[in-house]
Amino acid sequence: MNNVRRITDDVFYVGASDRRLSLFENIYPIERGVSYNSYLVLDEKTVLLDTTDHSVSREFLENVETVLAGRPLDYLVVNHMEPDHCATIAEIVLRYPDVKIVGNQKTFQMIRQFYTFDVDERAHLVKDGDTLTTGKHTFAFVFAPMVHWPEVMVTFDTFNGILFSADAFGTFGALAGNLFADELDFEGEWLDDARRYYINIVGKYGVQVMNTLKKAATLPIKMILPLHGPVWRENIEWFISKYQTWASYVPEEKGVLVVYSSIYGNTANAVDLLASMTAEKGVKNIHVYDASKTDVSVLVSECFRYSTIVFASPTYNAEIFPKMEMLLIELKAHAFQNRDAVVIENGSWALSAGRKMTEMLSSMKDIRIIAPLLSIKSSLKVEQLEDMEKIASALAESVRE
Ligand code: FEO
Repeated sequence: MNNVRRITDDVFYVGASDRRLSLFENIYPIERGVSYNSYLVLDEKTVLLDTTDHSVSREFLENVETVLAGRPLDYLVVNHMEPDHCATIAEIVLRYPDVKIVGNQKTFQMIRQFYTFDVDERAHLVKDGDTLTTGKHTFAFVFAPMVHWPEVMVTFDTFNGILFSADAFGTFGALAGNLFADELDFEGEWLDDARRYYINIVGKYGVQVMNTLKKAATLPIKMILPLHGPVWRENIEWFISKYQTWASYVPEEKGVLVVYSSIYGNTANAVDLLASMTAEKGVKNIHVYDASKTDVSVLVSECFRYSTIVFASPTYNAEIFPKMEMLLIELKAHAFQNRDAVVIENGSWALSAGRKMTEMLSSMKDIRIIAPLLSIKSSLKVEQLEDMEKIASALAESVRE
């Protein structure tokens, strides 16, 4: 059965949500599911903006058929060619063989890579800034390379001020009836997933995101329609400002994040004590995570969120404990930078995790180590409490406004 939502008089939501998928991109846990958004505009010509993942193709195709109500599909705008959005292009072409596909050179190159249908006879090639008028609506195509792939563009509808923003301004989380962000407690219930989505999917490309935001700032945007998650028609500036923060690698909050690995509890005991000492110095925004219990995508997102991070790990096989090493590898891969950091190591013999963690952090841009390395031999000793106090003081100083 179709499940279509009306956004304006002639703009319809024809996407759908998937709550069965465990891992988005087969790597990111999505306990709240994900939506694959697609939009259909009924003008003198009909325009579909992006398709969906295979998993929701049945509902998506029924939605398109329902909204078209027997009309032909004239244009398919392909803003992004990752298969969570392009997987049903061939099905659309089969059902609507006269459709013109709107894309840029890189879009068509990728369509040829993914598909064998004759795209050239259907191609409507656009360059950055080109427009397409379909009646009342004029669509302007704004290239947004690396947000999140090189072919990405966003499409601005000058008739109604709608920005079809591709992956930008998307979030993990299946839709549950309410389509508009202003109908939801977005800050309370969605922001963590929006941040985790942005940081893990696009976080590496902050410069390119900022370039796109600069281009978008010149457009009279009234609504933002992303490819995942709810649609924005109110408080748009608030969400854009979050993107500016994330893309410029400045901390979203002054706060202390403690991420530890602990095999038998001794490192955990040490960081819990450090958290208490820090709290006693008046710091309120403190968060402690066990890297073995929390998915690395959450840890990466939290590292981007806070100003000050403690990394604590045992030495394991003469290396950093694997869960902590994975976090550091992922942080580097996502261009993590511009934070205060503390390193704590533990080991019963041949301590080396601290040196190796410090080296990895030093290879990232503007990571400031704000206290000497604390080395624990098996368990924290009373004579080390003074050093712990110094670390707590450094953490408190770091988060002071
Ligand atoms: Fe939602 Fe880059 O795909």
